[in-house]
Amino acid sequence: MNEDEIICSCIGTTVRDIMDAVKNGAKTVEDISAVTQAGTVCGACLGEIETLLEKLKNK
Ligand code: FES
Repeated sequence: MNEDEIICSCIGTTVRDIMDAVKNGAKTVEDISAVTQAGTVCGACLGEIETLLEKLKNK
């Protein structure tokens, strides 16, 4: 997984930002949006955030 990959192009949120949010206790897409702002503009990245979140939770 490329940690520098941008997941949310509106905000510029990267995989690493989302990994950090999960490490800090984010458990849902909503939590991640609240912490990183990802998904709060057009919403196109919400599916990708969810996929990534599932991957990170299963580690
Ligand atoms: S790409 Fe994430 S809100 Fe638009």
